[in-house]
Amino acid sequence: MEKIIINGGNKLHGQVKISGAKNAAVAIIPAVILSDGVCRIENVPDIQDVNLIAQILFEMGASVKRLDKSTLEIDPKGIREPVATYDLVRHMRASSYLMGALLGKFKRAEVALPGGCDFGVRPVDQHLKGFTVLGANHIVESGMIKVKADKLVGGHVYLDVVSVGATVNIMLAAVKAEGRTTIENAAKEPHIVDLANFLNSMGADVRGAGTDVIKVNGVKHLNGTTYSIIPDQIEAGTYMAAVACAGGDVMINNVIPKHLESITAKLREMGVTIEEYDDSVRVIKDRRLRRCNVKTMPHPGFPTDMQPQIAAILTMADGTSIVNEAVWDNRFRYVEELRRMGAEISVDGKLAVIEGVEQLKGAPVKATDLRAGAAMIIAALGAKGKTQIEDIRHIERGYEDVVEKFAAIGADIKKVRSDDPTVKTA
Ligand code: UD1
Repeated sequence: MEKIIINGGNKLHGQVKISGAKNAAVAIIPAVILSDGVCRIENVPDIQDVNLIAQILFEMGASVKRLDKSTLEIDPKGIREPVATYDLVRHMRASSYLMGALLGKFKRAEVALPGGCDFGVRPVDQHLKGFTVLGANHIVESGMIKVKADKLVGGHVYLDVVSVGATVNIMLAAVKAEGRTTIENAAKEPHIVDLANFLNSMGADVRGAGTDVIKVNGVKHLNGTTYSIIPDQIEAGTYMAAVACAGGDVMINNVIPKHLESITAKLREMGVTIEEYDDSVRVIKDRRLRRCNVKTMPHPGFPTDMQPQIAAILTMADGTSIVNEAVWDNRFRYVEELRRMGAEISVDGKLAVIEGVEQLKGAPVKATDLRAGAAMIIAALGAKGKTQIEDIRHIERGYEDVVEKFAAIGADIKKVRSDDPTVKTA
């Protein structure tokens, strides 16, 4: 088992390059199934979740080649059976996108119920509601969701909750359906727009992505394409938060500043200086931060996937902050870990009340999920002394070269095996 060891207290300086967006990549890779040609996808992050979804396509019969660290070439024509078993998909929430892609291509899909981060109940009722509107039936049998249609015909879907996953899945199922599908109350996240752009580059007709009404006019064929994935909004936000916690002056490159607006606004409210350029942001922190309140919302609101990271910074801000998690039921499991470092946080349902302390102190902690793991790194960078983070496989699911990138901007960070003697003496 591997751990990350951080000696806190170093200020961060220099430049860091953000990788392609995980959540766009895990939607775009399954979308390739719909293509009648070969797709070359660039700016793909080299992380577990992406490698896993690519592996799933490979095991289903697709040809998957990694041309270099960030480029995949996928030819889906070898996929003959629209079935993804539990063994293949259990580690990945986004494997549910196989449902929409396989249904769109084969009019049939059998996909095991997905895994992924555990932040409470993760229903798929809105995905299935969309498939039903398009004419598909579904049953759940032996842990598999089985969806099937004689033919897919466009229709009107109103989502009861704004769901990224349901919006993606319905777009994927509708892209080759007969006629027009309208998705109302659709998610507006940057990766929804990226998926629509990818589908359109294959010859699809998807309009309105990025607004709350998406219209998909079905087409018969989709060709191969070459497409470059957008930068990762959450990875960028994580580095911004790290500078805000540890202090320093870092240029964060390969970002779309517009995608970071809600994060930038919150950090500025706390007293961080942020300069925006065409495709980079410079983050400067040179004083103790002010408290603030944060409520997570679907895009363009403050992203739930940045909630643990912002909470980590607030543990050392001046005053009392309230964090309201309005998307997921149970996304405060990491609070226990921050308390080990001296944070004063109380949780009541979807609210966390954080009393800012002067200084966190290093401690042994766990990454309870992907973004919780990012929060541990951030807290550790700002803490005094040594922090050991366990269960880092969660972090590696979503952050490319995280240790190398932080070390390059001055963090005292390393990855070690648990049987490494340096850990025992820590
Ligand atoms: C995606 C992101 C995840 C992020 C989340 C919210 C990916 C791979 N993952 O997850 O990192 O935290 O968006 O921004 O992109 N809901 C229902 N019924 C459904 C579907 C969802 O009630 O059928 C509810 C969920 O319980 C949750 C809310 O809708 O409360 C948002 O979920 P959703 O946007 O679907 O999240 P994911 O797509 O799973």
